[in-house]
Amino acid sequence: MFKGVLFDLDGVITDTAEFHYRAWKKLGEEIGISIDRNFNEQLKGVSREDSLTLLLAYGKKENDFSNEEFAALAKRKNEYYLEMIQEITPTDVFPGIVPLLTELKKAGIKIALASASKNGPLLLDKMQLTDYFDAIADPSKVASGKPAPDIFLLAAKEIGFEATDCLGIEDAKAGIQAIIASGAYPVGVGRKEDLGEDIPIVADTSSLTLDYLQHVWRKDV
Ligand code: G6P
Ligand code: MG
Repeated sequence: MFKGVLFDLDGVITDTAEFHYRAWKKLGEEIGISIDRNFNEQLKGVSREDSLTLLLAYGKKENDFSNEEFAALAKRKNEYYLEMIQEITPTDVFPGIVPLLTELKKAGIKIALASASKNGPLLLDKMQLTDYFDAIADPSKVASGKPAPDIFLLAAKEIGFEATDCLGIEDAKAGIQAIIASGAYPVGVGRKEDLGEDIPIVADTSSLTLDYLQHVWRKDV
């Protein structure tokens, strides 16, 4: 059985994936790039800088900005995002997450955050979830973002296990790829069309119980 669970944050613990989308959409509109939810699937789970690179390439504006301007755009997106998440409270935690964290703790299973977001600690704090986490992997300490496995490998290491002893939960294609590359076992939250046919997927977090995770662990679907 698994010894640790590695959680993505945005779109798994709370609906901040929506705020990331709205912040990128707002920034995009200001620089003449219009994005939709379909394109946004590519940004999910991807670091701030990599997301901006994808956005600019999508708008064919990858050569339009200097390094300083690029950094200023990334900063501006984060300012929009920070404004949007100010009002987040414990009531914004997705259904089933607190019961799952409680069950995992009771069962002695370690819990780590494996989010690409530099705002992860702030958000856990706002939702009063920090105490459930045995480790928060710092995305600024890894060489490559998702879909590379680095953040999941670091999260597993920080709770004292190999990634192969852990289960990872993700709502993004890049995140599922990262979990698989790390050797951890993936569970998706979302749609098979976005995440893949060959892994266990729940439509929403209320189905994420310890019983469910134990049931799907290392079984082919
Ligand atoms: C998560 C989100 C992405 C976001 C990334 C960086 O992976 O799914 O949408 O771009 O974190 O977040 P940050 O808060 O550091 O800009
Ligand atoms: Mg996510």
